[in-house]
Amino acid sequence: QEEVFKKIISHSKEYGFVFPSSEIYDGLSAVYDYGQNGVELKNNLKKYWWDSMVLLHENVVGIDSAIFMHPTIWKASGHVDAFNDPLIDNKDSKKRYRADVLIEDHLAKLDDKIEKEVQKAAKRFGDSFDEQMFRETNPRVLENRQKRDEVHSRFAKALNDNNLEDLRQIILDCEIACPISGTRNWTEVRQFNLMFSTEMGATSDGAMKVYLRPESAQGIFVNFLNVQKTGRMKVPFGIAQIGKAFRNEIVARQFIFRMREFEQMEMQFFVVPGEELKWFEHWKKLRMEWHQALGFGADKYRFHDHDKLAHYANAATDIEFEMPFGFKEVEGIHSRTDFDLSQHEKFSGKKMQYFDPELNKSYTPYVVETSIGVDRMFLSILAGSYCEETLENGETRVMMKFPAELAPVKLAILPLVRKDGLPEKAREIMDDLKFSFSCQYDEKDSIGKRYRRHDAIGTPFCATIDHQTLEDNTVTVRYRDSMEQERVAIDSLQNIIAQKTDL
Ligand code: GAP
Repeated sequence: QEEVFKKIISHSKEYGFVFPSSEIYDGLSAVYDYGQNGVELKNNLKKYWWDSMVLLHENVVGIDSAIFMHPTIWKASGHVDAFNDPLIDNKDSKKRYRADVLIEDHLAKLDDKIEKEVQKAAKRFGDSFDEQMFRETNPRVLENRQKRDEVHSRFAKALNDNNLEDLRQIILDCEIACPISGTRNWTEVRQFNLMFSTEMGATSDGAMKVYLRPESAQGIFVNFLNVQKTGRMKVPFGIAQIGKAFRNEIVARQFIFRMREFEQMEMQFFVVPGEELKWFEHWKKLRMEWHQALGFGADKYRFHDHDKLAHYANAATDIEFEMPFGFKEVEGIHSRTDFDLSQHEKFSGKKMQYFDPELNKSYTPYVVETSIGVDRMFLSILAGSYCEETLENGETRVMMKFPAELAPVKLAILPLVRKDGLPEKAREIMDDLKFSFSCQYDEKDSIGKRYRRHDAIGTPFCATIDHQTLEDNTVTVRYRDSMEQERVAIDSLQNIIAQKTDL
């Protein structure tokens, strides 16, 4: 799986999906740029979300709030005081780690050891292997499972008690059991605030310290009444937003999974207090259906319900996707009570209440939030789509099996040869279709090479223009996944593709 992940990363670069930022200056850690194909895929993804949230729900509207906001907003939301990760330095290697991630990695290593032991035995015993029995009786498996369970329960307790010294102690103890970096020379664990700050203006009293928003959600909360009043919205209703967020992540790794500059698609749904858990279940179901409609298979997704809730939440779950490095959070769904609106009322001194004409009373609505990272979703699409096939002639075909709706290019328009009027005919078709969906004209190299190139960027349809086209206005359509070919009238291209690219 690690190999596959490496291949996905290099494929993304080679085919113009994702480039490391500032590459000619050796890059900037955990910051990435989207290339010519990446930006199309990303835009399609955002449209898929926006259409399903805003267009399909009469009671959900969108906004686009600024990245800079009044700094008191982050005091009210709790980010100034509590948006921290536990940080630890290794004095020998001079490397900095997130203490909790270090322990999670250690737990994963113990899991790995167990699985390797099981796989080894399965190979050795063949058909007569009783896996369950082996797991329950093998001394090495039992020993590693016991270690794992011990570390896991100490870790859960330390996190729950917010006990930094205990986190450090686990790291020290784990080094004895299974070295993490071969050294015991660690600093104490301390809290590190993840918000980036900068200065705004230059007055004689000094500039104002402002933050780059770490989530887009607060832009929705502070505009709650603006939207409700000007849009004459009635509770329950939602406000959706797509926008950049910034976090000074301590560990930058796993490609675009954890970035310092990333994009979120968030929706806050305002409900009558007491009805929030019903709406939480409603959105949980809808959001999972949205993911599964992409067709990667239901087994690729799972819920991870939170046992430990943030102080303001009364229910929370993650939708996880099976990345090449295991099941990981892609989207969070949280029932946030009236925490944010009440805090803004307290800190701004402005009423954040809604008058409910049906109940004939005012109240502070409760909020159910759905929050998904565009870049993480993008990574899940890359991981779900990447595929290698061995063809009959022994060649390997690398293909991105993107859902057609999300593919950066929908139709490749390919004149068979660069003469006899075929390029002109192909251009004519391109000019007709390019307003309907994204088409790419390509006349360079053999037709086989061009098919391969379009497999690699995930183009679901190729139309080849040949001499027969000039006679009867038909083209050959070649389907990416099956490689089947079909002769169709030029006039029917639009319909065929429109039908198949509609999610
Ligand atoms: N408003 C709620 C909120 O921000 P979160 O769980 O911190 O909740 C929501 O973030 C989503 O944003 C995550 O599920 C993930 O997809 C994405 N996300 C968070 N931090 C990220 C990072 N450093 N890089 C990429 N995506 C990130």
